[in-house]
Amino acid sequence: MPDAVLRYGEQELELTSHSGTEGDTGVDIGKLRSELGLVTIDRGFANTAEGLSAVTYINGEEGILRYRGYPIEQLAEKSDFLEVAYLLQYGELPTKTEYEEYEDAITRHTLLREDMKYLFEAFPHNAHPMQILASATSALATYYPDALDPLDEEAVDLSARRLIAKTPTMMAWSYKYSVHQPYVYPDNSLDYSSNFLKMMFSVPAEEYVVDPVVANALTMLLILHADHGQNCSSSAVRLVGSGHANIFSSISAGIHALSGPLHGGANQAVLEMLDMIVSEGGDTSQFVKRAKDKNDPFRLMGFGHRVYKNFDPRARIIKKAAEEVLDALGVDDPLLEVAMELEQVALNDDYFVERRLYPNVDFYSGIIYRAMGFPTDMFTVLFAMGRLPGWISQWRELSADPQAKIFRPRQLYVGPETRDYVPIDER
Ligand code: SDX
Repeated sequence: MPDAVLRYGEQELELTSHSGTEGDTGVDIGKLRSELGLVTIDRGFANTAEGLSAVTYINGEEGILRYRGYPIEQLAEKSDFLEVAYLLQYGELPTKTEYEEYEDAITRHTLLREDMKYLFEAFPHNAHPMQILASATSALATYYPDALDPLDEEAVDLSARRLIAKTPTMMAWSYKYSVHQPYVYPDNSLDYSSNFLKMMFSVPAEEYVVDPVVANALTMLLILHADHGQNCSSSAVRLVGSGHANIFSSISAGIHALSGPLHGGANQAVLEMLDMIVSEGGDTSQFVKRAKDKNDPFRLMGFGHRVYKNFDPRARIIKKAAEEVLDALGVDDPLLEVAMELEQVALNDDYFVERRLYPNVDFYSGIIYRAMGFPTDMFTVLFAMGRLPGWISQWRELSADPQAKIFRPRQLYVGPETRDYVPIDER
């Protein structure tokens, strides 16, 4: 008995289904065009699974997120970022020895080739950090060309470790260049988050002590952003990787995809929206009204999600952390109150309730980043720094999949029918 039958006119196609460990069931339409001459239309791939993945499970209806089966709430509370990076890539939590070896490998790769400085200095001082990070990540393939073969496991391991180790240094150096300060080199005696904070905020002229509140909050935020299944940027990484492009080129594509305000760029857009609300008198209801108006392109940034039709579990954790971190740092940011009021107004408005629009990961994260001292235009590169092990894991899973094929979707052509060329003098 076939799992499903597709009937088209007089023809029928029997379809088999595949069930995941949990969550959605998939129907394989691999013979649809050859047997029925049909293709499917699914804008934004909202109902389409490109393939199978064991990395991350999301249940959007119940607001569940797990990395390799571990609930995000437990990892955010108990794990650290390098342990999560290991888990996502290798599928299991590391033993103490495995963790120490991995942490040591990452630590030893934090330096950049000295001539990479000229790359950062080629940009205008006010260049957006996402554009710089995408370019610098792609350029790593030229500065470190010795391990680019996507089918060589050892080479992939080396390049993946270089990426995770060098991205904080690249981000910090591009920031230092933008504020006309000297570059701060990595300090291998510090943990991942503390080393990044020191490269970002210390100056050679003074002693710098990392605030553990800030370092711990940054680690938690990196963990929360580490992976999220086949989101826009991870799909971009997979698509570019499906052509056997090297890991640096593939991740650079993901950074570009993440920069969009509908995706990772939303965390910067949320802060700009909250700033606008405050500067216009703090009336949140008029912004909710605009967000509902189909003739107004304005959207409530940080709200809604393709998959979550419940609270984004990451948003819950970040909202709680925002209050704790601002309190611990003695920061009184009016934007936090405005965000909480906006959330309440929206969650009690039929438009948002009917469409099951809830705060997502980007709604509160910028408030913490700002309290930590990061400039608004760095919020999305902080998202990218967190998402890096997820992108790498998705890319490695595809590269190692014997069933993987180059991504090449079909289209429905709706352009002009055949016509003859007209010489310019006769047009
Ligand atoms: C991330 O996919 C991931 O996993 C992404 C991410 C990850 O970790 O990688 O979770 C990170 O990108 C989070 C999302 C950040 N983006 C934003 O906060 C931008 C604002 N949100 C939206 O633009 C929107 O909600 C999306 C892009 C997130 C989701 O868009 P969908 O799934 O394509 O939904 P849609 O645009 O079809 O919206 C459905 C309805 C529409 O109204 P109707 O046509 O039914 O009348 O909801 C409305 C939309 O107009 N809607 C909103 C809205 N989001 C959706 N209306 C006002 N404000 C919003 N924010």
